[in-house]
Order: sequence, then structure tokens, then C-alpha cells
Amino acid sequence: MTTTPPTGPRFPEGFLWGGATAANQIEGAYAEGGKGLSVQDVLPDGGTSPRVDGPTPENLKLEGIDFYHRYAEDIALLAEMGFKAFRLSIAWSRIFPDGDEAEPNEEGLAFYDRVLDELEKHGIEPVVTLSHYETPLHLAEAYDGWTDRRLIGFYERYARTVLERYGHGVRYWLTFNEINSLLHFPFMSGGVNTPLAELSEKDLYQAMHHELVASAAATRAAHEIDPGIRVGCMILAVPFYPLTPEPRDVLAARAAEQQNLAFGDVHVRGAYPGYFLRSLREKGVALDVTEEDRRLLAENTVDFVSFSYYMSACATVTQDVAAGEGNLIGGVPNPTLEASEWGWQIDPVGLRLVLDQYWERWGKPLFVVENGLGARDVLVTGTDGEPTVEDDYRIGYMNDHLVQVAEAIEDGVEVLGYTAWGCLDEVSMSTSQMSKRYGLVYVDRNDDGSGTLARYRKKSFGWYRDVIASRGATLSR
Ligand code: BG6
Repeated sequence: MTTTPPTGPRFPEGFLWGGATAANQIEGAYAEGGKGLSVQDVLPDGGTSPRVDGPTPENLKLEGIDFYHRYAEDIALLAEMGFKAFRLSIAWSRIFPDGDEAEPNEEGLAFYDRVLDELEKHGIEPVVTLSHYETPLHLAEAYDGWTDRRLIGFYERYARTVLERYGHGVRYWLTFNEINSLLHFPFMSGGVNTPLAELSEKDLYQAMHHELVASAAATRAAHEIDPGIRVGCMILAVPFYPLTPEPRDVLAARAAEQQNLAFGDVHVRGAYPGYFLRSLREKGVALDVTEEDRRLLAENTVDFVSFSYYMSACATVTQDVAAGEGNLIGGVPNPTLEASEWGWQIDPVGLRLVLDQYWERWGKPLFVVENGLGARDVLVTGTDGEPTVEDDYRIGYMNDHLVQVAEAIEDGVEVLGYTAWGCLDEVSMSTSQMSKRYGLVYVDRNDDGSGTLARYRKKSFGWYRDVIASRGATLSR
């Protein structure tokens, strides 16, 4: 009998295949181990809804998927898929419960010792995000989050603490998850307590500047502690297409992208680009930027650029069309694309466009640290009698996106790796639902909080294991 050899693309040796998570969406144990509250603990309806006064029982993130207690079992499942890398965030408020203390919380540090030891045991490379929408709540309430310059010092102290503790074993660090989302969701993204509608543009852009300076300070700390550490920025990538060929639509699409690219420009080139300074001038915003800030930014640029990619969008000035749904940064829907149930338009080619564009613009290694499909899954009984999910829709989505990563690699782009979002089902960032699932592993928990928290392998679990083992050869172009 003859079998057809796999024909898909081959990814480079050493490519970091894996998955990605955030502490606030998986750990739970929100008040254990000396942890303080974070902004997530007062966002029961997700990051795009208004905050409440304190933790409330319906907030699914308080328990998450109980990774805090089940991390060993979870990491074993990731190892079974052959993961080379696992992206996790450190919950800042586990280490500095209020954010402004002088001394860290040893119990919090010890928890990540255990998690990192477990990853090492399985030969999985950690990719650590320092701040993934988890600013300590006290910093939001007492300082109005990143609008206050003092947060630079608090963040640098936190970064130095964890870099010194783990930096010799952890090579890849990301400073702020989707840093550009600050301009759209300042409370979740930057702990800015003043509601967006009441926030001045000056304060909003000042918060952005403070985060950029803090990112540079963390990069400096990392390189001082161990020159082998590689620090990346993390951008929410949304390619914008002009809705029509009208030149002003082309300009509108470019302007929409520049809002995101500006963050990368500062991280990679160490200074604000001219188009961004012009936009501040036109808004009448004069930023408070010190000589020391300028020096820090210029001297501490990133080693690589990481980004999330879920969707593209369109821009137009020529038609009166409503914005569509989207991953924090939305745009006008593209009439040629389908969308997920949550309205995120599915566009694998857009991923190649981002990779090509970022590589041509910055010439830095790139890392796709989030990509995936949020979908409702139905548990069925598999042929082995175990519960499973026949998630061919997720396999199709990941296949098509990975093929585009391969195309970019063939274009000459240096791609360090791909970490699929939510390798384990986790609580949704934007809606706080469990039913918006991204995982390759099903977690038995429902939107009303019920469920056993048991883990089950989905069909995509075996599919991804084969993709990793064959270095992409089992993908279909
Ligand atoms: C990214 C975030 O924007 O999108 C993640 O970094 C998030 O935290 C992911 O979970 C998917 O978004 P959602 O809202 O579907 O969970």
C-alpha cells in the first residue's frame, strides 16, 4: 500500500511552535497567595464594558480555568502536543499586590518558580508577558493608571524583580500586551480610571508615552541583567484596506494603520515618527517628554517585534458605513470576507501582509504570539469513548493562517515562532465568556460558572501535534 507523503510547507528548525495565554484569563485564584486585585477583577462583563466597584461572583476571571492549581496537568497536555514554547503572563498584582510597594510578595514569585520549573521539565521555552491587561487595581484608583509618571518607576521595579528572579532561564520577554489598545480601552489596557469619554487627549497620550518609556526601561533592565535576554514589544495588528480605490480611502487606511505602527516605530527606532508628532500637533497635545525619556527610548530599542493577529478591517471616507465588530480596534467590514460568530473578519492573507510589512519596515525578527478562532464548541463522545470536540472550523482557520506564515517565511521574513491563542480554553478578554473558545484543549466550564473544569482534547489537539511534529508538512496549502 502506498501513502501520499505530506506536501505542506516546512518551517525552520527551531521555530517556536506553541500556544499563548494570559494570567488573568487562566489562573483564577484571584485572592490567593497574597495576590492583590487587578483591573480585571472589576470587569465582570469583559474589557470592553465599564468597570464595577469590586469583585462580583459572576466574574468568571476570578476563577479562570484554575490554572493556578492545575498548571502541571495543563503543561503536560501542551507537552503532549509537542509545544516548543508557551506564552504566559505574570500577574503584576501577584508580585506587587498594590503595585507601589517597596518589596515583592514572595508567595507570588514562588508560584511562577513552580510554573517555570514545570515548563523546563518538559523542555518548553517560556515567552513571558510582563503586563497583559493586569495593572494592579490600586494603581488605577490611586494614580489613574499610566497617566501618572510614577508608574514608570513601579513598573521598572516589578520588571527588575521578575527579570532578576527568572531572567537567566527565560529568554523571551514581552513588555506590554497589545500596547496600542491603550488608546481605545485605557482602563483595561492601562489602568486609567477616568472614563474614556471624560479623559483629555493630553492625558491619554501622556499615558501612552509613559508606557513606552517604561517598556524601554524594562528592556534596559533585561539587557543589564542578562545580555542573552531578548525583549519584544507586542502590538495588536490590524491591517486596514481602503474600502474603495478612491485615494482618500487609501489615505484613511494608512492613517488607521499608523495609529498602531507608531507604537512599533518608537519601540524599534527609539523615537516618535513625524506623522505621529504631526497628529499630536493637530490635536493640540503637547506631551511632557524629558531628555531622560528621549535617551531611554533611543538607547533601549527592542530585539524583536511580536504581535497578535485575528482580523483585518477596511477604512473609508467616501461612504457612510458603520464600523463592524472587532478585536478592540475595529473598522468598516470588508464585503469580501466572512466573519466569526463574534463578527471578527477572517483573513489569513492579512497575516502574511502584516509579516511582510513589519519585516520591510523594521527588519527585526517577528513573533506571531496570538492568532486563533473564537467559536462555540460542542462536546461529543470520540471514537475512544472520551469527550472531544470536532472542531474542523478551528483546524481550517489555523491551517490557513499557518500557510500564510509559511508564505511570509518564503518571502524572506524572519519569524521566530507562532503561539496559538488560548491553546487551553480560557475566559474571553472582551466579553468574559467561556463559550467563546479558542483552545485545542476543551475546559469544562460554562458561562454561568458551572462545570467540572475537566480538560478534554479536541480534534485540533491531534491536528496541531502532527503539524508541529512534521514542521508544517501536514498543513494543506
Ligand atoms: C487579544 C488579547 O486581543 O485577543 C487576549 O491579547 C484575548 O487577551 C484575545 O483573549 C482574544 O480576544 P477575546 O475577547 O475573544 O478573548
